[in-house]
Amino acid sequence: MPVNLKGRHLLTLKDFTPEEIRYLLNLSSDLKAKKRAGIRGNLLDRKNICLLFDKTSTRTRCAFEVAAFDEGGTVTFLTNSQMGKKESIEDTARVLGRYYDGIEYRGFKQSTVEELAKYSGVPVWNGLTDRYHPTQILADFLTVMEHVDKPLNKIKFVYVGDARNNMGNSLMIGAAKMGMHFVALAPKTLWPEEALVEEMKLVAKETGAVIELSEDVASVDGADVLYTDVWVSMGEEHLFEERIKMLKPYQVNMDMVKKTNNENVIFMHCLPAFHDNMTEVGAQIEEKYGLSEMEVSDEVFRSKHSVVFDEAENRMHTIKAIMVATIGNL
Ligand code: CP
Ligand code: NVA
Repeated sequence: MPVNLKGRHLLTLKDFTPEEIRYLLNLSSDLKAKKRAGIRGNLLDRKNICLLFDKTSTRTRCAFEVAAFDEGGTVTFLTNSQMGKKESIEDTARVLGRYYDGIEYRGFKQSTVEELAKYSGVPVWNGLTDRYHPTQILADFLTVMEHVDKPLNKIKFVYVGDARNNMGNSLMIGAAKMGMHFVALAPKTLWPEEALVEEMKLVAKETGAVIELSEDVASVDGADVLYTDVWVSMGEEHLFEERIKMLKPYQVNMDMVKKTNNENVIFMHCLPAFHDNMTEVGAQIEEKYGLSEMEVSDEVFRSKHSVVFDEAENRMHTIKAIMVATIGNL
C-alpha cells in the first residue's frame, strides 16, 4: 500500500507506522536535494500556515517559515493570541481552521495540541509540548541516516540526561518504531514513565527494537549516537539546582565519548545547548553553581563527533516534508 498522509495530524510519532516515518524521512531527503539543486517548489502554493507559539523558539519557528516559503506557502507567526486567556482552545481552533490549511502549535500541555487537532478541521503539527517533540525526531533520524553508515535498525542510540522530558519520550518512541537499540541513561527518577516504556516495549516486540533503561555510564559502550538535551526544559526553570546535582555525572564529555569505544560515535543535541557560559542563563548558572557547561562539554560540542548543526538544518527539511505530505499539492 502506498503511504498517503494527506490530512493527517502530527501530534506524536506514536500515531505513525514505521513505513510512514520512513516515507517522511525519504521525502525529507528528496526535498533537501531539491533545495540544494536550487529548485524552487510550489508544493505548498496557496497554502496558509499558522504558527502558534506559547513558548520561545529559534529552530522550529524558522524551519516552518523557510520550509513554507521554499514551497510557495505563506505563514502567520502568532505568539500573543487570545487562546487560553480570553478564548477557549476549542473556539480558537474553530476560528484558525477557517483561515488556515495547517496549524503548528508549540506550548505546554499535550492536551492543547490534541484539542486544536480535534476542533480545527485542518492538520495540526506538534512543534513541542511538555510531553513530546515529534518534528525534532524526524530531523534527528535523518541526520543519523546521513552520518552513520548503518540502517536505523542496527543503530545503538544512547540518550543521556533528563530521559523523562519531551525529547526522552519522543526519541524512545521513534527508536521503538524504527527498530533501534535505545538506551535511556539517567538517574532512575528521570527515566521515562513506566506506562510509556511498557507501551514502547510492545512496539519493540514488533520492530525488533531494544528499549533499555540504565543508570550506569558504562552502558554507552558501542553507541553509534550519544544524544543529550538540556537538564531543565522550558517551564521548569525552578529545577536547576536539583537537576545539576542529579545530572552532573551524566554530562556528555570526552570521558563519556571514550567510554563508547567507537571513534566514529556522533554527538547530537536538539539545541539550544548549555555548552559554555555565553548566554544569560549560562552566566547565571556559572555564578551560582560554578559550572560553565552543563549537559555537554564545550570540547565535545565543538569536536569532530558533533553533528548538531547538520541536525539543526535538518529541522527545516523534515518539517517541509511533514507539511508537504499532509497538506501539500503532491
Ligand atoms: N530544537 C528546537 O526545537 O529548537 P527551538 O526551541 O529553537 O525551536
Ligand atoms: N527539552 C527541551 C527541548 C527544547 C527544544 C525543552 O522542552 O525546553
